[in-house]
Amino acid sequence: MIDFKAITQEYKTPLYIYDFDYMTAQYNELKAAFKGRKSILAYAVKANSNLSVVKHFAKMGSGADCVSIGEVRRAFLAGVPAYRIIFSGVGKTDDEIREAIQKEILYINVESEAELGRVELIAKELNKVSRISIRVNPNIDPKTHPYISTGLHDNKFGVDLSSAKRMYIKANNSDNLDPVGIHFHIGSQLTELQPIRESAEIVADLVRSLSTINIELKFFDIGGGLGIKYDDEVTIKPYDYAQAILGCLNALDLTILCEPGRFLTANAGYFVSKVLYEKQNGEKKFVVIDGAMNDLLRPALYSAYHKIDVITDSKEESRPVDIVGPVCESGDFFAKDYPLPPLAHNDLVIVNSAGAYGFGMGSNYNTRGRSAEVAIEDGKVRLIRRRETFEDLIALETEFLEK
Ligand code: LLP
Repeated sequence: MIDFKAITQEYKTPLYIYDFDYMTAQYNELKAAFKGRKSILAYAVKANSNLSVVKHFAKMGSGADCVSIGEVRRAFLAGVPAYRIIFSGVGKTDDEIREAIQKEILYINVESEAELGRVELIAKELNKVSRISIRVNPNIDPKTHPYISTGLHDNKFGVDLSSAKRMYIKANNSDNLDPVGIHFHIGSQLTELQPIRESAEIVADLVRSLSTINIELKFFDIGGGLGIKYDDEVTIKPYDYAQAILGCLNALDLTILCEPGRFLTANAGYFVSKVLYEKQNGEKKFVVIDGAMNDLLRPALYSAYHKIDVITDSKEESRPVDIVGPVCESGDFFAKDYPLPPLAHNDLVIVNSAGAYGFGMGSNYNTRGRSAEVAIEDGKVRLIRRRETFEDLIALETEFLEK
């Protein structure tokens, strides 16, 4: 049991709390699902990029899936070895590509023919060979929220099968490119196995067809996307997930590379705020808390559901309330018509499943400093990011103030 009262007394609110032991258990469960097969779990740093979180996974042998050179640098700082770092994303700048090649990471996930050309040119300038993988867009509907679906041709991600084949041939004929992997990622918060199986089947067929022309790949990168329980979702079991993928590979001797984000961190995280006050507009009741959409954007952006718990002495009956923050936007809410008892000043409101795409999608909107983050491990609590101060927020502007 997490002692939210004691922790928030010490570290104040709003506050992110992460249970590192839960992250360990999730990592171990997924890793074990691929037992008997060569596999690398490359933690998707975007889900929660706090250095201590990335380091926690690095210590367990995790790699890192990065989508900017900033994330690549974080991975290095956290102790992830170069040979377990991959760099994905639809738009990489020349500088980012250059640094990734110089750092000799495992591979760059290439997402277009034009990008393949840039990577080749930059590798040539550096007199290096760049290991690459190509992200295939299998045109499969992942059956998730449209904003986090990525595997349809309507989405900007990856390349279609025929382009991919052309790109592999080009890469194989290049002195500066080494095609080592193939990648797909059809979406996030996936709760159905069938779209994953179909995609893996399509991509494995491409691997076989490449093999007939003597292009032999080493890594089968299945992306991330495993869904978690926010509410009462029926989720995919890691074992079934792994079996579905391995079933598509048959005799292909490839190392599985998996890029889990949300599965590892979401349900390890709690976002805790204090009640400022309650108010009522006509019939409508609101609980105003000190956390806001700048701390946790998912409800505002995707109408995402997060389970809420409260710590209060109130014994009265629950009634539907909107839980809102102080930001001047009607979208600044954590839940609508949520059943809660009447709450008092300083009662705690805990937003669950906040460990993935929580802090990282935060901002300083309304000149609000970002919350502190703490980790709990083996019953011990420690600060892993201090609260931002007003001075932090203005530091990049003050030197330009006209006298
Ligand atoms: N690999 C690639 C190439 C990705 O694009 C993503 C997530 C992952 C791995 C990790 O996916 P996960 O295992 O976490 O589902 N902000 C949204 C989620 C965006 C996901 C973007 N890509 C949200 O809050 O739901």
